[in-house]
Amino acid sequence: MTTPWKRKEVIGDQTLYLGDCMEVMPTLGKVDAVVTDPPYGMSFKSNHRTTHHKKIANDDNVLLLEWCCGLDADHSKYIFCRWDNIYDIPKPKSLVTWVKNNWSMGDLNHEHARQTEVAAFYNGNNHFFPNGRPQDVIRCARTDNALHPTQKPIDLMYSVIQWTSGVVIDPFMGSGTTLVACAKLGRSGIGIELDPDYFDIACERVEKAYQQTDLFVAPPENTDIKRNQINMFDDGDAA
Ligand SMILES: C[S@@+](CC[C@H](N)C(=O)[O-])C[C@H]1O[C@@H](n2cnc3c(N)ncnc32)[C@H](O)[C@@H]1O
Repeated sequence: MTTPWKRKEVIGDQTLYLGDCMEVMPTLGKVDAVVTDPPYGMSFKSNHRTTHHKKIANDDNVLLLEWCCGLDADHSKYIFCRWDNIYDIPKPKSLVTWVKNNWSMGDLNHEHARQTEVAAFYNGNNHFFPNGRPQDVIRCARTDNALHPTQKPIDLMYSVIQWTSGVVIDPFMGSGTTLVACAKLGRSGIGIELDPDYFDIACERVEKAYQQTDLFVAPPENTDIKRNQINMFDDGDAA
């Protein structure tokens, strides 16, 4: 039996797929929560970094952002994008703003120095706020993007994931920050990544997350963590 993914890794309560999310997602069945940071259609390239990364796959394609805004999630969707992507996506219920400790260069003469990124929030049919009504601002420091050119901070993902319920799916996993946060919070997650190098980084980070004890986040109850690798041509269910 062939599968729409090239590799599948199960690490603790996290399942990681190497493949194209548009092919893998339809095989996963019911979705509780989507938390993701898709390519924004910006052809991201920074001239200000000491670490040089390869180009992000599909970063010239805003259709992927539109596609994940349209996914059917029972509880909620939080989809990171830029403020000006608001014209590309369906009207969200809220726009959550991440305030960073740095700002973009952009047009130095005619554009305000941008210190924020946003996530579009869509509530599903069975949405509720698990820990009371949250504000729409998160303040936290950016990362140094050592592992991925658009690596999200783990503290940012802790906040967002705690607003969701059920299994968290990140179809554009990158270096795996969403799943690392899920592992630390004792939540189940599913991640999909197209690029094999970023997929490997994500697997390593998730494995390490289960090995480390963290003072600030409640550790997962199950400490007996196993890692299983399943290759594309193995028999078995695709999910
Ligand atoms: C903005 S980055 C996510 C970074 C992530 N938040 C992190 O902290 O590392 C988007 C990722 O989506 C991946 N990607 C692009 N097209 C994809 C597709 N069709 N299926 C799965 N992943 C895809 C890219 O390779 C990239 O790593």
